[in-house]
Amino acid sequence: MSIEIKTVGVIGAGQMGSGIAQVCSLAGFNVLLNDLSEDRISAGLANIRESTARQASKGVISASDHQAALERITPARSYNDLSNCDLVIEAATEKEEVKSQIFTALSPSLRPDAMLATNTSSISITRLAAATDGPEKFIGIHFMNPVPVMQLVELIRGIATEDPTFESAKEFIGRLKKTVTVSQDYPAFIVNRILLPMINEAIYALYEGVGSVDAIDTAMRLGANHPMGPLQLADFIGLDTCLSIMQVLQNGLGDPKYRPCPLLMKYVEAGWLGRKTKRGFYDYRGETPVPTR
Ligand code: 3HC
Repeated sequence: MSIEIKTVGVIGAGQMGSGIAQVCSLAGFNVLLNDLSEDRISAGLANIRESTARQASKGVISASDHQAALERITPARSYNDLSNCDLVIEAATEKEEVKSQIFTALSPSLRPDAMLATNTSSISITRLAAATDGPEKFIGIHFMNPVPVMQLVELIRGIATEDPTFESAKEFIGRLKKTVTVSQDYPAFIVNRILLPMINEAIYALYEGVGSVDAIDTAMRLGANHPMGPLQLADFIGLDTCLSIMQVLQNGLGDPKYRPCPLLMKYVEAGWLGRKTKRGFYDYRGETPVPTR
């Protein structure tokens, strides 16, 4: 029997978490948004207001749906505030220890029948499930960035995920009007298994001097019809997240072809993480992005 979902908790109010909260509230779910501090929750809510205003101004949603969606999102200051949720989706930093700590701390606050999902881009669902007290109700629900625009959601079962959890998650994604693709629980699943080595290869091409940032991005935009060049997309995803995913692929599959490019490591060490820090393969501090190489 599938679980009826009415109230959704979202942990992490960053780029992905705020997007997830937005699409859930627009689909009519009550949403509780949690993060480490009041400031982070406020920043997430501001992102949601900006993105829904953009949708309303383009007529994608009506003014009344816009207002109602904003009213359905409530800040959750502690895990206890999530005790009434039917489903909680974790969208914190892409670090296994951070996610595991969240699940261990959160589990006692949840209703015994509540489902718990992770939006991890790459980490083993089976291993993350082991940090919860209900691995049969745990699942991977992987959204793409920008969440309000991207049609796809990957669904990944851990070894212990039971059928009702899987069916409920599928139904839930249907209510968000998104398309499900099912991936087995292997490092980085389907999209990132294919996308991140392509991005890493583009960084190698830059590192080896095959082309400039502009040449590489123009080549893939106009030569392969990608909506963004791979370096622009890396900045958009976040270079720290790109590096974490490559490390999961390298450690999980052991093939040297997944070796992260040293230039990617250097940018992350410099704190040049892409758009979110205003510097990455492009410099975003001025009016228009300027290539850094
Ligand atoms: N909120 C609401 N609407 C948004 C939005 C947001 N955050 N961002 C873009 N939009 C809307 C715009 O309003 C516009 O709507 P319209 O068609 O009605 O006018 C539409 O999306 C297109 O936006 P823009 O005109 O501003 O710009 P583009 O045409 O360049 O599209 C893009 C932007 C959709 C982001 C496009 O460049 C794109 O598809 N890029 C590739 C994105 C991608 O590959 N994502 C996957 C990354 S991998 C991932 O997420 C996995 C993770 O685990 C790492």
